[in-house]
Amino acid sequence: MRVSILVGLGSSFLLVIGAGSSAEPAAPPGPAPAASSAPSAPPRLAASLAPTPPMGWNSWNRFGCNVGERVVLGAADALVKAGMKDAGYRYVVIDDCWQGKRDAAGAIVADPARFPSGIRALADAVHARGLALGIYSDAGTLTCAKRPGSKDHEVDDARAYAAWGVDYLKYDWCNTEGQDTREAYGTMSRALRATGRPMILSICEWGSTKPWLWAAGVGQLWRATGDIQDCWDCGTSWGGMGVVHIIDLMAELYPFSGPGHWNDPDMLEVGNHGLTLVENRAHFSFWALFAAPLMAGNDLQTMSADIRAILTNREVIAVDQDPLGIQGRKVRDNGPHEVWMKPLADGTRAVILFNRGTEESPITVEWEDIGLHQGGRATVRDLWKGIDVGTFRGRYQARVSPHGVIMLKLTADPTGAP
Ligand code: GLA
Repeated sequence: MRVSILVGLGSSFLLVIGAGSSAEPAAPPGPAPAASSAPSAPPRLAASLAPTPPMGWNSWNRFGCNVGERVVLGAADALVKAGMKDAGYRYVVIDDCWQGKRDAAGAIVADPARFPSGIRALADAVHARGLALGIYSDAGTLTCAKRPGSKDHEVDDARAYAAWGVDYLKYDWCNTEGQDTREAYGTMSRALRATGRPMILSICEWGSTKPWLWAAGVGQLWRATGDIQDCWDCGTSWGGMGVVHIIDLMAELYPFSGPGHWNDPDMLEVGNHGLTLVENRAHFSFWALFAAPLMAGNDLQTMSADIRAILTNREVIAVDQDPLGIQGRKVRDNGPHEVWMKPLADGTRAVILFNRGTEESPITVEWEDIGLHQGGRATVRDLWKGIDVGTFRGRYQARVSPHGVIMLKLTADPTGAP
């Protein structure tokens, strides 16, 4: 069911591209350098591949199969121009539909109509902008949109990615009948390592075989859920799900995430068209509280100032990127009103007051629920308003919009202890 609908989606995007609708202004990256020279390096290579959750942009949520080098370079330029690169976004990831057919020798090649300059030239162009390039494949015979998968080509495909200068592989799970996730992802993980080029492996089997129990050390992140949909609480009829459903699935998984091995609740829908501004802020706040990979999934060239402000909120991003790498969890559940907390490396706490109901309501965080002395004082900072709201003893209450959050940082006041 899921596959046929995705293919349908892919076909309709193909029709759009056939009509020549791509409007991005960026120039193509130019001819590929000689194949024998070493691929270009991304600007900085961290000692560990993902000590904090990877951040970047991925083509799928907004562009689907309507992807090409102009779309990708347009996104790379927009990441820089919008201040997102400076805020920490680094990986520009081409999702499904970049592939053409395999050549006579079985080598994977980019679709010449979509990527006329080739992936190597695109990687060079992305690196020249101070960013890193991600690509997509699938452990089965075909990708979800029916492009060639990597089954039985893992070593050659990994070598091709390394030769092109790729820095990140998202590896999907369509058309894998009879295959075992641990074996298939292990095979690609080893193939990537054998190239000698550091490449992040983003595991994407939708949580189907509980990767949080086996995938640390295989990849740096694993999808924990089905595909995100551009909606707040829409249903799950073909395997996709709204933001609230994903929040609920992530609630139980906090013990399994940490530096170098992250639960991935899927790419962001912030700035696409299905969420209100309040819901977009709530979505981004939760992904930060979850220490989730932050892969923007919108059209960066046309986003509004409000959306840019969400995606570049440094204080919220700092919660996501906190070096302790703890996934936040729910600490209080009063029906539609919830309190969530993530401990941070400096001893402070990020807190979300979450109203999943339909009426604006006061929500209270009690110090004892977040590991503070109930009689003590704490300074409360509102991360979306960017202001300290005051120092409080025992609890803090704020009114929260329906489908909204108030996101706070609490610093215990040592002088205020009883
Ligand atoms: C699957 C993945 C998505 C996207 C599509 C591409 O559904 O879960 O994130 O990569 O395939 O076809």
